[in-house]
Amino acid sequence: MTTDYDPIAEQYQLSKQQPWRRYIESYGLLDLAGDLAGKAVVDLACGEGFYSRLLKHGGAQRVLGVDSSQGMIDLARKQEVEQQAGIEYQLSDVREMGHAGEFDLAVAAWLLNYASTTEQLEAMCQAVSGCLKPGGRFVTINSSPLIDWLTIPSYRKYGFEALFGNEMRPGAPITWKFYLENETFDIENYYLSQSAHEEALRGAGFSEINWRPLRVSAEGTAAYEAGYWDTFLTVQPVVFIECVKG
Ligand SMILES: C[S@@+](CC[C@H](N)C(=O)[O-])C[C@H]1O[C@@H](n2cnc3c(N)ncnc32)[C@H](O)[C@@H]1O
Repeated sequence: MTTDYDPIAEQYQLSKQQPWRRYIESYGLLDLAGDLAGKAVVDLACGEGFYSRLLKHGGAQRVLGVDSSQGMIDLARKQEVEQQAGIEYQLSDVREMGHAGEFDLAVAAWLLNYASTTEQLEAMCQAVSGCLKPGGRFVTINSSPLIDWLTIPSYRKYGFEALFGNEMRPGAPITWKFYLENETFDIENYYLSQSAHEEALRGAGFSEINWRPLRVSAEGTAAYEAGYWDTFLTVQPVVFIECVKG
């Protein structure tokens, strides 16, 4: 798996300011996370803590962020020192993190798409399930296995392009090229089918697996001219999944 975020940790943090991140990604993920009051929440592949902070400020009692990149965890801890939100961070691959049965809710923004084989996907889903209490929920956003990647449109006006080869085979790389104000950077993740995801989730003990399409928040709709979000919503390059342990 190519998951080295150390060299791009700061650029990645800047990419979170792109409008679609707020009006589609955060809006949808926090909506699916639901009522956080009193909940113990684990933010898997937490990066520099973008969602860990939103989850804690949203009312979660406990938030643990887990990520395998030292650069990302350093940025997360730096912000925790400045803001004192009471978030714990752990440097670890999620497949080795431990914490059996501790959490009510697991959130993962961009984790499952780092699996390039069904075995890796299964190991990730087992790890997510392992840290949840029975009845605990898992909500996640990833590159979508539901679209035809061979005919995707340009997403340049939203600040990125998604680049794909010429075969939708398991493990085929998806390259996300982000355009920041003065620079670009690339992230590579991987295509695995919808059925591979469902089998891995079921095999790890999840049920009520729902694929949730993207929506734009009312604020995001109002901020742009009519039709601005049409390309994003017509061929949705990312998708939410929610499911329940047990
Ligand atoms: C696209 S970033 C997302 C960060 C954060 N969730 C966000 O939305 O801002 C993906 C993160 O996944 C982490 N990652 C990838 N595979 C991982 C694994 N097996 N265990 C833990 N972290 C992983 C990377 O280090 C990186 O920080």
